Amino acid sequence: MSAVHVFDHPLITHKLSLMRDKNTGTKEFRQLLSEISMLMAYEITRDLPLETIEVETPICKTQTKVLSGKKLAIVPILRAGLGMVDGIVSLIPAAKIGHIGLYRDPNTLEPVEYYCKLPSDIEERTVLLVDPMLATGGSSSAAIGFLKKRNCHNIRLVCLLAAPEGIERVQKDHPDVDIFVAGMDSHLNEHGYIVPGLGDAGDRLFGTK
Ligand code: PRP
Ligand code: URA
Repeated sequence: MSAVHVFDHPLITHKLSLMRDKNTGTKEFRQLLSEISMLMAYEITRDLPLETIEVETPICKTQTKVLSGKKLAIVPILRAGLGMVDGIVSLIPAAKIGHIGLYRDPNTLEPVEYYCKLPSDIEERTVLLVDPMLATGGSSSAAIGFLKKRNCHNIRLVCLLAAPEGIERVQKDHPDVDIFVAGMDSHLNEHGYIVPGLGDAGDRLFGTK
């Protein structure tokens, strides 16, 4: 069974509360999502392996450590996942970036695919799959399915807000994928929106409503 990590860092909780407020405008919403994503990336990468190298400082030669082995890819689910990329890239500038385009059919709530472009060596990379909202879990589960078809074996799902239904779906479909969230809410409403949630993440991020 995949692990679920809910972040309780006060800075993350504070910023998430500001994002929930319906009076928070697009500019601030975008900035807050970027900041939270950066803070989450700091925690999510805590277990990355290190290797020892030798460097010469202005004073002497010394053994020191740098990141080793596995390279990273960030894969946002379009559209709203785009809002999480910059914050993570600011910490991991060498990461490659893929894109998976999915939208949720408003009637069936089933994900509909419209785009997929991934780094050519994606199967060698640890993938941070990012999407602010994990509601029914249909979109994230489908995106993980695409990545697995491309032979990705090391996938971490990073979301801002999750509903229990979404967590359950991903855990059932993909028990090998760990889930990282900034907040866990109570349930979905009849339209599949997270309650209390923050509304439509894509619309608030891009100012389309
Ligand atoms: C939102 C969100 C997720 C999805 C979550 O995207 O960004 O991708 O819904 O819902 P689910 O867990 O029930 O699948 P949306 O379909 O609104 O597309 P958009 O980002 O293009 O607005
Ligand atoms: N997508 C969103 O943007 N918000 C929700 O609450 C659920 C799905």
